[in-house]
Amino acid sequence: MKKILLGTFLSVAAFTAAQQETPVYLDDTKPLEERVEDALSRMTREEKVAIIHAQSKFSSPGVPRLGIPENWMTDGPHGIRAEVLWDEWYGAGWTSDSCIAFPALTCLAATWNPEMAALYGKSIGEEARYRNKNVLLGPGVNIYRTPLNGRNFEYMGEDPYLASVMVVPYIHGVQANGVAACVKHFALNNQEIDRGHVNVNVDDRALYELYLPAFKAAVQEGKAWAIMGAYNRYKGEHCCHNQYLLNDILKRDWGFDGVVVSDWGGVHDTKQSIKNGLDMEFGSWTNGLNWGASNAYDNYYLATPYLKLLESGEVTEKELDDKARRVLRLAFRTTMNRQRPYGSFGTEQHSLAGRQIAQEGIVLLRNNRQVLPVDLAKAKKILVVGENAVKPMTIGGGSSSLKVKYEVSPLAGIQARAGKEAQVSYLPGYASPAQKEQDVKDAKTPQQEAIDYAALRSEAIQAAKDADVVFFIGGLNKNEGQDCEGADRKELNLPYQQDQLIEGLAEANPNLVVVIISGNAVAMPWVNEVPAILEAWYGGTETGNALASVLFGDVNPSGKLPFTFPERLEDNAAYAVGEYPGNGEDVTYKESIFVGYRWADKQKNKPLFPFGHGLSYTTFEYGKAKADKKTMDENGCITFTIPVKNTGKRDGSETVQLYIRDKESSLPRPVKELKGFKKVKLAAGEEQLVSFTIDKQALSFYDDTRSEWVVEPGKFEALIGASAGDIRAKVTFELK
Ligand code: BGC
Repeated sequence: MKKILLGTFLSVAAFTAAQQETPVYLDDTKPLEERVEDALSRMTREEKVAIIHAQSKFSSPGVPRLGIPENWMTDGPHGIRAEVLWDEWYGAGWTSDSCIAFPALTCLAATWNPEMAALYGKSIGEEARYRNKNVLLGPGVNIYRTPLNGRNFEYMGEDPYLASVMVVPYIHGVQANGVAACVKHFALNNQEIDRGHVNVNVDDRALYELYLPAFKAAVQEGKAWAIMGAYNRYKGEHCCHNQYLLNDILKRDWGFDGVVVSDWGGVHDTKQSIKNGLDMEFGSWTNGLNWGASNAYDNYYLATPYLKLLESGEVTEKELDDKARRVLRLAFRTTMNRQRPYGSFGTEQHSLAGRQIAQEGIVLLRNNRQVLPVDLAKAKKILVVGENAVKPMTIGGGSSSLKVKYEVSPLAGIQARAGKEAQVSYLPGYASPAQKEQDVKDAKTPQQEAIDYAALRSEAIQAAKDADVVFFIGGLNKNEGQDCEGADRKELNLPYQQDQLIEGLAEANPNLVVVIISGNAVAMPWVNEVPAILEAWYGGTETGNALASVLFGDVNPSGKLPFTFPERLEDNAAYAVGEYPGNGEDVTYKESIFVGYRWADKQKNKPLFPFGHGLSYTTFEYGKAKADKKTMDENGCITFTIPVKNTGKRDGSETVQLYIRDKESSLPRPVKELKGFKKVKLAAGEEQLVSFTIDKQALSFYDDTRSEWVVEPGKFEALIGASAGDIRAKVTFELK
């Protein structure tokens, strides 16, 4: 009726247009899958092939004819990468792409606070959205198998439960902005050496119990819209086109309906990419014919070679439709979501978020004689030593390198906080050689040959004798061979002769505070000579302010280690079983499920600092733990409670950890496994009852003989404590 009436007033053309209904795919009141099918039915074969591979370093085409926009991806995972040229890795020279750098993911994991993960995801998602990126290449959740892995700083530690709990809110936060989180690198990418081809042999128990859970949580609880395949191989197939990982586990078993994005250059074969679950190809260096040619996107494995196979009838459009559907879903969830917010970039709010996360992640490893926090009423002469006090750490490290709006160095943070109350002086004490690869070249950075370590050291030690307190700020950095993509570390010890320097400083001054900035565990042969040690991670834009607020006691540290610090490399499982980095072709995870604290427990090794360890400026007392029942039904739950009291004079937060031990089992199991944690804020003198409720999932293990998770009746123990090495209470219970 309405249409007929309109017709009487309109021209014929306008009348026809008015008559046309909004196409289903453009109608956001329609269910997602209907829109996907409608869009797909309108697309040509060429259009479908076009949307599944890159058109530039970080983008892929949309369907202009249908008004479906391009996809623009960005690294990830700690901030929004600077714009690069269309077909180059070089910066595009924009003046409006300086981001806020958030702390590295190891620092986020060290907060043990899912609220911090939510804040992180929300903030970085807003930055991505403002920059018009619809896919953020992160977060990373590969398990920390060896402290030598150059990319551990981009991941969330050694424990699958901790990483699972922390990854979910990050994803929710990002995706609330209409930006897809692309969780990486799926899977078994646990070293950089030989990463492009190494074939990982891992038993199913370790695969399911350690290496997959955080990805599964990301998919099933986080509802991640994208996942990135890894460079390495598993069962002989590259992970970017891997039948077992992508088709069987990810898509079939876990029901993943998003896109599998290749790692950049991780694709090696057209037919395997078609069949084995890859959806979008990026960063390929093209095939032999046009190897390295510029703008060779048409030569991508999923470009012309795919079209040729379709034309010859060697493959049908079945797989192509599935891939295109997934890319369409991505578009409807992100670029075509008209409700998505506009985002914000480089804001004060994001700086504050980064600072808060950095502060909560800093771990107080040791604090003898209460050297920390430093009282500015007494410490009038402060000496800061170490290159990391001044070295920008948001630059370097590989693909996570950032161009930042600003970065407060530790020295600047300390100076700002001390103000006129103390005299702060600085000496380098050591130096690292210049890097060729990094985005910013600093003319002051010395060449290796030119560094006179002995002179730098003695100058610092001499000055230390005269100071009230010495802050040594060192650790690793983002140079190749340290915490950096593309290579692994060569040793557990600190580089650049820092051990000798620390020993000298400790002898020269009793009030030495060692601050390690790293994304990895380091050996500390001087541990007993140094009264106070902090692990400060890579803190991002606000790193110096965050550190200063902990050093001077404005913030009471509450971070806990997300991985074990072994005393020696020989105490790390991968190293001990002789299976790292493999033989150049294969690496076999012979230690199986015994990674990190699981290995330390099994070997009865006392680590330098255990998983979950972290002190506070106050003290916490744990009371007696109780269970609400003695026997748990198979389909029931059990609740444990424990009173925890702040017995010191300062307010503080404690992360109370629940580990479960299976006392009798048909298969070998770790001595204990993390199955719950809670971070509680306690005012001085306050006591709270902390409770944990678990079900049978927390008691189960992956039975590789049956290929399923099983739970066996019998006796279990709940171990509650302040770290994996500091269990304060136990309760025994039984599963019927
Ligand atoms: C890295 C990815 C990254 C990609 C794009 C690769 O080298 O492994 O993590 O997202 O490059 O920069």
